[in-house]
Amino acid sequence: MGPPIIGVSNSIEKISELIKHVADTGLNVVITGETGVGKEVVAQNLYQSSPRKGKPFIKVNCAALPDGLLESELYGYERGAFTGAEKKKKGKFELAHGGVLFLDEIGDMSMPLQAKLLHVLQSGEFAPLGSEKEVVSDTWIIAATNHNLEQEIIKNHFREDLYYRLNIITIDIPPLRERPEDISQLIEYYLGIYTSQFNKKNLLQPNLAIIEKLTKYHWPGNVRQLQNVLKSSLVLGDWDKTIVALFSSADADDRPSPKSTVPESVALITEYLDLDGVNSPEQPSFSLKSIKKTYLEKIEREVISYILSSTGWNRSKAAKILKISYKTLLYKITDLNLSPPA
Ligand SMILES: Nc1ncnc2c1ncn2[C@@H]1O[C@H](COP(=O)(O)OP(=O)(O)OP(=O)(O)O)[C@@H](O)[C@H]1O
Ligand SMILES: [Mg+2]
Repeated sequence: MGPPIIGVSNSIEKISELIKHVADTGLNVVITGETGVGKEVVAQNLYQSSPRKGKPFIKVNCAALPDGLLESELYGYERGAFTGAEKKKKGKFELAHGGVLFLDEIGDMSMPLQAKLLHVLQSGEFAPLGSEKEVVSDTWIIAATNHNLEQEIIKNHFREDLYYRLNIITIDIPPLRERPEDISQLIEYYLGIYTSQFNKKNLLQPNLAIIEKLTKYHWPGNVRQLQNVLKSSLVLGDWDKTIVALFSSADADDRPSPKSTVPESVALITEYLDLDGVNSPEQPSFSLKSIKKTYLEKIEREVISYILSSTGWNRSKAAKILKISYKTLLYKITDLNLSPPA
């Protein structure tokens, strides 16, 4: 399971050393680095070199699921814990018992779930949703993120106490562009693998000029992007086309498109905001007032739906939690056109 860590750079050598030292300590680890840089490979190598090898390695992507689902995914639930919980389900914490729980994209976990995770790490126990009984958890937590957690703490998006709990050891993987000396070894390794995977008879050997070009590229998608370039070169049976494409898109990669710099709240009102055409008639719906209204409605809808579904549509309970009157809640339910699940 999982590839070896390829690379000859100082940083890769240091990381491999660190893995050897950390693996049998069981200390919590946070792996940081840009997308495609090899965070999961490092997590798998930690596990493979540890005494927990052979026990479960359970991965949870904390960014992929909405809050409620992530919570039940992690901690499991008893039958009847909420509407739709028809039978008991074990959580990933329980499944990872004795092994590794790999919390991927930990930087995207919501504050309430961070609080719960902190509690579990402090007490070594957790209770599945709808259960009174605490379950003892013996899992090695390896977390990964491509966010800068220190900045997230300043922005109040990440709990400082959780950060110190998780982050006993940090393994930061530098982007590929900062360790270009790894590129030719990665090319050799993955070309070998893909050549046999795609049943190609001849290895498409890159010459020195090509290796040099690939080494100069800035690889925003890191090793994963390099893998894709190798795959397409192999399929096309030729390097030139892929390399030309790579460099012609290079400028575009550096400059984020205007669309991606528009915050969600603005995008909600106008498809795109043409800042030069403030008075243009194509933007009739754009105003601070309308954004505020739409956005507040969106948040209101999210919060009310969440509370209603987590109380099993018990309206008086929901009203109490939301600290609004029962009548107001009924009004909002109608106004926002909310309805209980069939
Ligand atoms: N040093 C390396 N040696 C061998 N393979 C590597 C190395 N680094 C990355 N890879 C490979 O590159 C691909 C991307 O790596 P991985 O999935 O670990 O990245 P990641 O940092 O978790 O990315 P993301 O943030 O997008 O989840 C994988 O196929 C992985 O095997
Ligand atoms: Mg990953």
